[in-house]
Amino acid sequence: MTVTEALQARRAIPSFEKGVSITREEIDTLINRACLAPSSMNLQPWDFLVCITDEDKARMQSVAMNQKKVSEASAVLAVICNLDFPDHAAAVADSNIANGYFGEDRKAGFITNATAIKANPQAVREEAIRSSNLWAMAFMLVAIEAGWHTGPMGGFVAEDLSKEFGLPPSRFPVLLITIGRPNPEIKLLPRGIRFSSAELTHYGNW
Ligand SMILES: Cc1cc2nc3c(=O)[nH]c(=O)nc-3n(C[C@H](O)[C@H](O)[C@H](O)COP(=O)(O)O)c2cc1C
Repeated sequence: MTVTEALQARRAIPSFEKGVSITREEIDTLINRACLAPSSMNLQPWDFLVCITDEDKARMQSVAMNQKKVSEASAVLAVICNLDFPDHAAAVADSNIANGYFGEDRKAGFITNATAIKANPQAVREEAIRSSNLWAMAFMLVAIEAGWHTGPMGGFVAEDLSKEFGLPPSRFPVLLITIGRPNPEIKLLPRGIRFSSAELTHYGNW
C-alpha cells in the first residue's frame, strides 16, 4: 500500500463492528511505527492512553460526548501531550552523540537549547500539540496499512478525561483515535469536499 493509497483509504469511521478485538501487541506495533513521526528536536512530546476493555471504553465514552463509536471500536487511544517533553533532552542528546551528530562536548549545549522552551509555557503547549498531531496522523496511516480503520475525535472534555483516567498535571489529551473494523451494516457516505490547492495555496506572498 502506498502512502497515497493509505490516505485515500482512511476515513473517519462513524460506526464500528462490535466484538472485534485487537491485542495489546498489535496496538504496540502500530504505536511504535507511528513513533517514527517527526517532532521538534526529536523530543517526542507525546504519551498514549489506550482503552481496550469494554469497561474502560465505556469510561472513555462517558467523557467523549457519549459518542457510541468509542465503545463499539476495538480500542480507543488518547493522544496525550507531555508538557515535560524537554526532559527527554538528555536521552535525545545521547542518541545524537551515538549517531555521530555531535560530540560529548556539545551535549550540555543541546540540553540547554532544548530546555530553554520551559521559560515559555505557551510555547511548550503549542509545541506539544503540534508534534502530537503529526504522531496522530502517522498512527492513522499505519493502522490503515495494517488493515484497521480509525476515527479521529476532538469531541471529548479534556478536564473530565484527565480526571477519569488520573492524568498528572503535566499531561493533557489532544485527540482520541478510535480503532476497529467498520460496521458492515452502515454505508459510509462519500468523502466530504476537500478544498483544492488552487483555493488554498499562496506562492511567494499571501
Ligand atoms: C481534530 C478532529 C476532531 C474530530 N472530532 C470528531 C468527533 O468528535 N466526532 C466525530 O464523529 N468525528 C470527528 N472528526 C472526524 C471528522 O469529522 C472527519 O475527519 C471529517 O469530516 C473528514 O472526513 P474523513 O476523515 O472521512 O475524510 C474529527 C476529526 C478531526 C481531525
